[in-house]
Amino acid sequence: MYHAPVLLTESLDALLLRPGGVYVDATFGGGGHSAAILERLAGKGQLLAFDQDDDAEANAQHPPFAGAPGFQFIRSNFRYLKRQLRLYGLRPGSVDGILADLGVSSHQLDTPERGFSYRFEAELDMRMNPEEPRSAADVLNTYSADELQRVFSEFGEVRNARTLAQACIRLREQKRFRTTGDLVGLCEPLSMGERWRYLSQVFQALRMEVNDEVGALTDFLRDAQEMLAPEGRLVVMSYHSIEDRLVKNFIKTGNPEGVIQQDFYGNIGRPFVILTKKPVEPGAAEIKENPRARSARLRVAAKPRETGKSKK
Ligand SMILES: C[S@@+](CC[C@H](N)C(=O)[O-])C[C@H]1O[C@@H](n2cnc3c(N)ncnc32)[C@H](O)[C@@H]1O
Repeated sequence: MYHAPVLLTESLDALLLRPGGVYVDATFGGGGHSAAILERLAGKGQLLAFDQDDDAEANAQHPPFAGAPGFQFIRSNFRYLKRQLRLYGLRPGSVDGILADLGVSSHQLDTPERGFSYRFEAELDMRMNPEEPRSAADVLNTYSADELQRVFSEFGEVRNARTLAQACIRLREQKRFRTTGDLVGLCEPLSMGERWRYLSQVFQALRMEVNDEVGALTDFLRDAQEMLAPEGRLVVMSYHSIEDRLVKNFIKTGNPEGVIQQDFYGNIGRPFVILTKKPVEPGAAEIKENPRARSARLRVAAKPRETGKSKK
Protein backbone atom coordinates (compact mmCIF):
# COMPACT_ATOMS: atom_id res chain seq x y z
CA MET A 1 0.00 0.00 0.00
CA TYR A 2 1.30 3.48 -0.88
CA HIS A 3 0.26 5.09 2.43
CA ALA A 4 -2.35 4.25 5.06
CA PRO A 5 -4.29 7.45 5.78
CA VAL A 6 -4.04 8.54 9.41
CA LEU A 7 -6.94 9.83 11.59
CA LEU A 8 -9.16 9.57 8.54
CA THR A 9 -12.59 9.91 10.15
CA GLU A 10 -11.42 12.56 12.61
CA SER A 11 -9.82 14.74 9.92
CA LEU A 12 -12.77 14.44 7.53
CA ASP A 13 -15.27 15.25 10.28
CA ALA A 14 -13.15 18.27 11.22
CA LEU A 15 -13.33 19.59 7.65
CA LEU A 16 -17.10 19.83 8.01
CA LEU A 17 -17.55 18.73 4.39
CA ARG A 18 -20.73 19.83 2.66
CA PRO A 19 -21.81 19.08 -0.91
CA GLY A 20 -21.01 22.02 -3.17
CA GLY A 21 -18.13 23.21 -0.97
CA VAL A 22 -14.54 23.94 -2.07
CA TYR A 23 -11.78 21.94 -0.35
CA VAL A 24 -8.01 21.57 -0.56
CA ASP A 25 -5.93 18.51 0.30
CA ALA A 26 -2.46 20.08 0.53
CA THR A 27 -0.65 16.70 0.81
CA PHE A 28 -2.21 14.22 -1.62
CA GLY A 29 0.36 11.38 -1.23
CA GLY A 30 -1.46 8.12 -1.95
CA GLY A 31 -4.77 10.00 -2.05
CA GLY A 32 -6.29 8.22 0.97
CA HIS A 33 -7.78 11.41 2.43
CA SER A 34 -8.68 12.80 -1.00
CA ALA A 35 -10.58 9.64 -1.99
CA ALA A 36 -12.65 9.80 1.19
CA ILE A 37 -13.34 13.53 0.67
CA LEU A 38 -14.54 12.87 -2.90
CA GLU A 39 -16.78 10.11 -1.64
CA ARG A 40 -18.41 12.43 0.90
CA LEU A 41 -18.79 15.21 -1.70
CA ALA A 42 -20.55 12.72 -3.99
CA GLY A 43 -19.83 14.67 -7.18
CA LYS A 44 -20.99 18.02 -5.78
CA GLY A 45 -18.20 20.44 -4.98
CA GLN A 46 -14.51 20.89 -5.67
CA LEU A 47 -11.36 19.22 -4.35
CA LEU A 48 -7.95 20.63 -5.30
CA ALA A 49 -5.12 18.33 -4.25
CA PHE A 50 -1.46 19.38 -3.98
CA ASP A 51 1.73 17.33 -3.88
CA GLN A 52 5.25 18.10 -4.99
CA ASP A 53 6.20 14.49 -5.59
CA ASP A 54 6.11 12.74 -9.01
CA ASP A 55 4.96 9.45 -7.52
CA ALA A 56 2.03 11.16 -5.79
CA GLU A 57 1.11 12.83 -9.08
CA ALA A 58 1.02 9.40 -10.75
CA ASN A 59 -1.53 8.23 -8.14
CA ALA A 60 -3.86 11.03 -9.19
CA GLN A 61 -4.00 9.66 -12.76
CA HIS A 62 -6.02 6.59 -11.70
CA PRO A 63 -9.53 5.96 -10.36
CA PRO A 64 -11.18 7.31 -8.27
CA PHE A 65 -9.38 10.55 -9.18
CA ALA A 66 -8.96 10.56 -12.98
CA GLY A 67 -11.99 12.33 -14.42
CA ALA A 68 -13.74 12.68 -11.05
CA PRO A 69 -16.05 15.71 -11.20
CA GLY A 70 -14.62 18.70 -9.37
CA PHE A 71 -11.21 17.06 -8.78
CA GLN A 72 -7.97 18.81 -9.73
CA PHE A 73 -4.42 17.65 -8.96
CA ILE A 74 -1.83 20.42 -8.64
CA ARG A 75 1.82 19.39 -8.81
CA SER A 76 3.31 22.08 -6.57
CA ASN A 77 4.79 22.81 -3.21
CA PHE A 78 1.93 23.78 -0.90
CA ARG A 79 3.86 26.92 0.07
CA TYR A 80 2.44 28.42 -3.15
CA LEU A 81 -1.14 27.65 -2.13
CA LYS A 82 -2.57 31.10 -2.81
CA ARG A 83 -0.78 31.60 -6.15
CA GLN A 84 -1.82 28.16 -7.41
CA LEU A 85 -5.44 28.43 -6.26
CA ARG A 86 -5.72 31.81 -7.98
CA LEU A 87 -4.63 30.13 -11.22
CA TYR A 88 -7.66 27.88 -10.80
CA GLY A 89 -9.96 30.86 -10.31
CA LEU A 90 -10.24 30.80 -6.51
CA ARG A 91 -10.11 34.10 -4.68
CA PRO A 92 -8.97 34.69 -1.08
CA GLY A 93 -11.84 33.98 1.28
CA SER A 94 -13.44 31.32 -0.94
CA VAL A 95 -12.20 27.94 0.36
CA ASP A 96 -14.35 25.98 2.83
CA GLY A 97 -11.71 23.65 4.21
CA ILE A 98 -7.99 22.90 3.93
CA LEU A 99 -6.33 19.67 5.06
CA ALA A 100 -2.59 19.10 5.48
CA ASP A 101 -1.14 15.72 6.50
CA LEU A 102 2.49 16.79 6.89
CA GLY A 103 5.78 14.99 6.37
CA VAL A 104 6.64 12.07 4.13
CA SER A 105 4.49 9.17 2.95
CA SER A 106 5.19 5.52 3.73
CA HIS A 107 5.95 5.11 0.03
CA GLN A 108 8.67 7.77 0.18
CA LEU A 109 10.15 6.23 3.35
CA ASP A 110 10.04 2.69 1.98
CA THR A 111 11.51 3.46 -1.46
CA PRO A 112 15.25 2.92 -0.87
CA GLU A 113 16.48 5.13 -3.72
CA ARG A 114 14.74 8.20 -2.29
CA GLY A 115 17.32 8.16 0.52
CA PHE A 116 14.86 9.12 3.29
CA SER A 117 15.55 6.12 5.50
CA TYR A 118 18.63 4.96 7.40
CA ARG A 119 17.31 1.39 6.97
CA PHE A 120 18.45 1.15 3.32
CA GLU A 121 21.76 1.77 1.60
CA ALA A 122 21.10 4.41 -1.09
CA GLU A 123 22.17 7.82 -2.39
CA LEU A 124 21.61 10.48 0.28
CA ASP A 125 18.89 12.35 -1.58
CA MET A 126 15.77 13.11 0.56
CA ARG A 127 14.16 15.54 -1.89
CA MET A 128 10.37 15.27 -1.96
CA ASN A 129 10.49 17.13 -5.26
CA PRO A 130 13.34 15.50 -7.22
CA GLU A 131 13.63 18.66 -9.34
CA GLU A 132 14.88 20.72 -6.40
CA PRO A 133 18.59 21.45 -6.83
CA ARG A 134 19.93 20.45 -3.39
CA SER A 135 20.07 16.92 -1.95
CA ALA A 136 20.93 15.78 1.58
CA ALA A 137 24.44 14.88 0.38
CA ASP A 138 24.85 18.47 -0.89
CA VAL A 139 23.88 19.82 2.54
CA LEU A 140 26.43 17.57 4.28
CA ASN A 141 29.15 18.36 1.72
CA THR A 142 28.77 22.15 1.64
CA TYR A 143 27.40 23.52 4.95
CA SER A 144 29.79 24.97 7.55
CA ALA A 145 30.09 23.31 10.97
CA ASP A 146 27.89 26.05 12.49
CA GLU A 147 25.18 25.56 9.87
CA LEU A 148 25.22 21.77 10.32
CA GLN A 149 25.04 22.17 14.09
CA ARG A 150 21.97 24.44 13.68
CA VAL A 151 20.26 21.88 11.42
CA PHE A 152 20.91 18.91 13.75
CA SER A 153 19.96 20.80 16.86
CA GLU A 154 16.98 22.83 15.61
CA PHE A 155 15.30 20.23 13.39
CA GLY A 156 16.43 16.97 15.01
CA GLU A 157 16.84 18.11 18.62
CA VAL A 158 20.11 16.10 18.48
CA ARG A 159 21.80 16.52 21.87
CA ASN A 160 25.42 16.33 20.65
CA ALA A 161 24.77 18.41 17.51
CA ARG A 162 28.14 20.22 17.73
CA THR A 163 30.13 16.97 17.99
CA LEU A 164 28.19 15.48 15.07
CA ALA A 165 28.66 18.60 12.92
CA GLN A 166 32.41 18.58 13.58
CA ALA A 167 32.59 14.86 12.75
CA CYS A 168 30.87 15.63 9.40
CA ILE A 169 33.51 18.23 8.59
CA ARG A 170 36.35 15.80 9.50
CA LEU A 171 34.87 13.02 7.33
CA ARG A 172 34.48 15.47 4.45
CA GLU A 173 38.22 16.15 4.52
CA GLN A 174 38.76 12.52 3.46
CA LYS A 175 35.75 11.84 1.22
CA ARG A 176 32.47 13.37 0.11
CA PHE A 177 29.18 12.19 1.59
CA ARG A 178 27.34 10.15 -1.00
CA THR A 179 25.21 7.42 0.55
CA THR A 180 22.98 6.84 3.58
CA GLY A 181 25.66 4.37 4.73
CA ASP A 182 28.24 7.20 4.88
CA LEU A 183 26.03 9.05 7.36
CA VAL A 184 24.95 5.97 9.33
CA GLY A 185 28.61 4.92 9.69
CA LEU A 186 29.51 8.37 11.02
CA CYS A 187 26.58 8.48 13.46
CA GLU A 188 27.00 4.99 14.89
CA PRO A 189 29.84 5.72 17.37
CA LEU A 190 28.35 9.12 18.27
CA SER A 191 24.81 7.93 18.85
CA MET A 192 23.39 8.92 22.25
CA GLY A 193 20.64 6.68 23.66
CA GLU A 194 18.93 4.19 21.39
CA ARG A 195 20.54 3.85 17.94
CA TRP A 196 17.28 3.99 15.96
CA ARG A 197 16.12 7.10 17.78
CA TYR A 198 19.40 8.93 17.19
CA LEU A 199 19.45 8.00 13.50
CA SER A 200 15.79 9.04 13.13
CA GLN A 201 16.60 12.45 14.64
CA VAL A 202 19.60 13.01 12.37
CA PHE A 203 17.73 11.89 9.22
CA GLN A 204 14.67 13.96 10.15
CA ALA A 205 16.83 17.07 10.64
CA LEU A 206 18.43 16.68 7.21
CA ARG A 207 15.10 16.00 5.50
CA MET A 208 13.59 19.11 7.03
CA GLU A 209 16.52 21.22 5.84
CA VAL A 210 16.59 19.74 2.32
CA ASN A 211 12.88 20.39 1.83
CA ASP A 212 12.75 23.64 3.83
CA GLU A 213 9.82 22.14 5.70
CA VAL A 214 9.56 24.90 8.32
CA GLY A 215 9.63 27.65 5.68
CA ALA A 216 7.08 25.85 3.49
CA LEU A 217 4.73 25.22 6.42
CA THR A 218 4.90 28.87 7.51
CA ASP A 219 4.12 30.12 3.99
CA PHE A 220 1.32 27.57 3.68
CA LEU A 221 -0.34 28.59 6.96
CA ARG A 222 -0.26 32.28 5.93
CA ASP A 223 -1.84 31.48 2.56
CA ALA A 224 -4.37 29.12 4.13
CA GLN A 225 -5.55 31.86 6.49
CA GLU A 226 -6.13 34.17 3.51
CA MET A 227 -7.75 31.60 1.26
CA LEU A 228 -10.25 30.25 3.80
CA ALA A 229 -13.79 31.56 3.78
CA PRO A 230 -15.19 32.91 7.07
CA GLU A 231 -15.77 29.86 9.31
CA GLY A 232 -13.73 27.73 6.87
CA ARG A 233 -11.77 24.91 8.52
CA LEU A 234 -8.01 24.36 8.77
CA VAL A 235 -7.09 20.77 9.66
CA VAL A 236 -3.40 19.95 10.13
CA MET A 237 -1.70 16.70 11.11
CA SER A 238 1.90 16.86 12.34
CA TYR A 239 4.28 14.06 13.15
CA HIS A 240 6.88 15.75 15.35
CA SER A 241 7.01 18.42 17.99
CA ILE A 242 8.72 21.10 15.85
CA GLU A 243 5.89 21.09 13.30
CA ASP A 244 3.18 20.72 15.91
CA ARG A 245 4.54 23.68 17.91
CA LEU A 246 4.65 25.80 14.76
CA VAL A 247 1.05 24.93 13.85
CA LYS A 248 -0.14 25.57 17.42
CA ASN A 249 1.65 28.95 17.56
CA PHE A 250 0.37 30.03 14.17
CA ILE A 251 -3.22 29.12 14.91
CA LYS A 252 -3.02 31.12 18.14
CA THR A 253 -1.12 34.19 17.00
CA GLY A 254 -0.67 34.22 13.22
CA ASN A 255 3.11 33.78 13.44
CA PRO A 256 5.29 30.68 13.83
CA GLU A 257 6.99 31.96 16.98
CA GLY A 258 3.70 32.37 18.84
CA VAL A 259 4.28 36.05 19.66
CA ILE A 260 1.00 37.76 20.50
CA GLN A 261 0.68 40.90 18.40
CA GLN A 262 -1.37 43.97 19.17
CA ASP A 263 -2.25 46.84 16.93
CA PHE A 264 -2.05 50.54 17.85
CA TYR A 265 -5.34 50.32 19.77
CA GLY A 266 -4.35 47.27 21.80
CA ASN A 267 -6.42 44.84 19.71
CA ILE A 268 -4.93 41.36 19.60
CA GLY A 269 -4.78 39.66 16.19
CA ARG A 270 -6.77 36.42 16.27
CA PRO A 271 -6.22 34.67 12.96
CA PHE A 272 -8.21 31.56 13.92
CA VAL A 273 -10.72 30.22 16.38
CA ILE A 274 -9.02 27.24 18.04
CA LEU A 275 -11.22 24.15 17.94
CA THR A 276 -8.79 21.66 19.50
CA LYS A 277 -7.23 22.98 22.73
CA LYS A 278 -5.27 19.72 22.88
CA PRO A 279 -4.36 17.92 19.66
CA VAL A 280 -6.35 14.84 18.67
CA GLU A 281 -4.22 11.66 18.73
CA PRO A 282 -4.87 8.23 17.22
CA GLY A 283 -6.37 5.61 19.50
CA ALA A 284 -4.76 2.29 20.44
CA ALA A 285 -6.64 0.41 17.69
CA GLU A 286 -5.36 2.68 14.93
CA ILE A 287 -1.79 2.55 16.26
CA LYS A 288 -1.97 -1.27 16.41
CA GLU A 289 -3.17 -1.36 12.81
CA ASN A 290 -0.73 1.32 11.60
CA PRO A 291 2.23 1.90 13.96
CA ARG A 292 3.34 4.91 11.85
CA ALA A 293 0.25 6.76 13.06
CA ARG A 294 1.53 6.81 16.64
CA SER A 295 3.13 10.26 16.56
CA ALA A 296 0.27 12.00 14.69
CA ARG A 297 -1.17 15.18 16.26
CA LEU A 298 -4.26 16.70 14.65
CA ARG A 299 -5.12 20.37 15.21
CA VAL A 300 -8.27 22.04 13.94
CA ALA A 301 -9.10 25.73 13.66
CA ALA A 302 -11.71 27.87 11.94
CA LYS A 303 -11.30 31.22 10.31
CA PRO A 304 -13.23 33.75 12.37
CA ARG A 305 -16.48 35.08 11.01
CA GLU A 306 -15.25 38.67 11.35
CA THR A 307 -11.74 40.16 11.01
CA GLY A 308 -10.32 38.23 13.93
CA LYS A 309 -9.37 41.09 16.25
CA SER A 310 -10.28 41.14 19.91
CA LYS A 311 -9.67 43.55 22.81
CA LYS A 312 -7.12 42.33 25.36
C1 LIG B 1 1.95 11.96 5.00
S1 LIG B 1 1.90 12.05 3.27
C2 LIG B 1 0.19 12.34 2.91
C3 LIG B 1 -0.59 11.08 2.79
C4 LIG B 1 -2.02 11.27 2.33
N1 LIG B 1 -2.81 12.01 3.27
C5 LIG B 1 -2.65 9.92 2.05
O1 LIG B 1 -3.68 9.61 2.67
O2 LIG B 1 -2.13 9.17 1.24
C6 LIG B 1 2.58 13.62 2.91
C7 LIG B 1 2.65 13.98 1.45
O3 LIG B 1 2.82 15.39 1.40
C8 LIG B 1 3.74 15.73 0.41
N2 LIG B 1 4.36 16.98 0.85
C9 LIG B 1 5.08 17.22 1.96
N3 LIG B 1 5.46 18.50 2.02
C10 LIG B 1 4.95 19.10 0.91
C11 LIG B 1 5.00 20.42 0.41
N4 LIG B 1 5.67 21.39 1.03
N5 LIG B 1 4.34 20.70 -0.74
C12 LIG B 1 3.65 19.71 -1.40
N6 LIG B 1 3.60 18.43 -0.98
C13 LIG B 1 4.24 18.13 0.17
C14 LIG B 1 4.72 14.57 0.37
O4 LIG B 1 5.33 14.49 -0.90
C15 LIG B 1 3.80 13.39 0.68
O5 LIG B 1 3.35 12.78 -0.50
